[in-house]
Amino acid sequence: MKSLILDSTITLLMILAITCTIGPAPLAAQEQETALDRQVREFLDSHQRVWRDMNVPAVDGQKLYDIIVEHGYTRAVEIGTSTGHSGIWIAWALSKTGGRLITIDIDERRHNQAVAFFEEAGLSEYIDARLADAHELVPRLEGPFDFVFSDADKDWYTRYFEWMLPKLEVGGCFTAHNVRQSSGRYGGRGRGGRRGTGAFVQALLATEGLDTTFHTSGGGLSVSFKLPPGVF
Ligand SMILES: C[S@@+](CC[C@H](N)C(=O)[O-])C[C@H]1O[C@@H](n2cnc3c(N)ncnc32)[C@H](O)[C@@H]1O
Repeated sequence: MKSLILDSTITLLMILAITCTIGPAPLAAQEQETALDRQVREFLDSHQRVWRDMNVPAVDGQKLYDIIVEHGYTRAVEIGTSTGHSGIWIAWALSKTGGRLITIDIDERRHNQAVAFFEEAGLSEYIDARLADAHELVPRLEGPFDFVFSDADKDWYTRYFEWMLPKLEVGGCFTAHNVRQSSGRYGGRGRGGRRGTGAFVQALLATEGLDTTFHTSGGGLSVSFKLPPGVF
């Protein structure tokens, strides 16, 4: 009897020792880094100092990436490419979900630089970069889409939102940069309008069927999910 208890105890200790030695699978084994991941990471690491064209900070790029991957979005639109920092984060996320990004800018120099950066980062196949006036192109874009990032001329945010909302799928997400909830108090006018986004915040908050949050880290980001009918 004594030896049976001793045997069981030894077996239990051995199992414990083996479990502790192996431990949980390392993160790298669970989420294999691909060659593309390495290329994008190296690109972002080596280009940290080139983002001087009103580009989003990395913390906001990471936020956009996380939203897209978490929700599995595949049809994205960006209004305001500049030289492509946010576009790289968005397209990197879309490389995970099997999606594609249409990104628009009116400035030829910035557009050309963005196209070169997309190539260098290895993300060109996930991006359709358009040199165009968003005032003309956005109303003509054919949906549906499931993700929008608005980051062009702030005075037009409300119109971009009104044009894109009907083309946004239920469950989709409309995000906008340089937006803070407090901007809405001023109606988008004057100093308090925070570069014209106040009227947009008011429009966001007055629209039924949206779940909106405001992220204050980075440059300020509104994130609005389109709810299914009956949920609001
Ligand atoms: C804040 S920057 C975009 C930054 C970019 N999202 C990034 O993080 O790299 C705004 C861009 O919007 C573009 N823009 C302004 N008005 C526009 C319009 N009407 N149509 C298209 N692009 C416009 C500007 O040329 C500028 O490059």
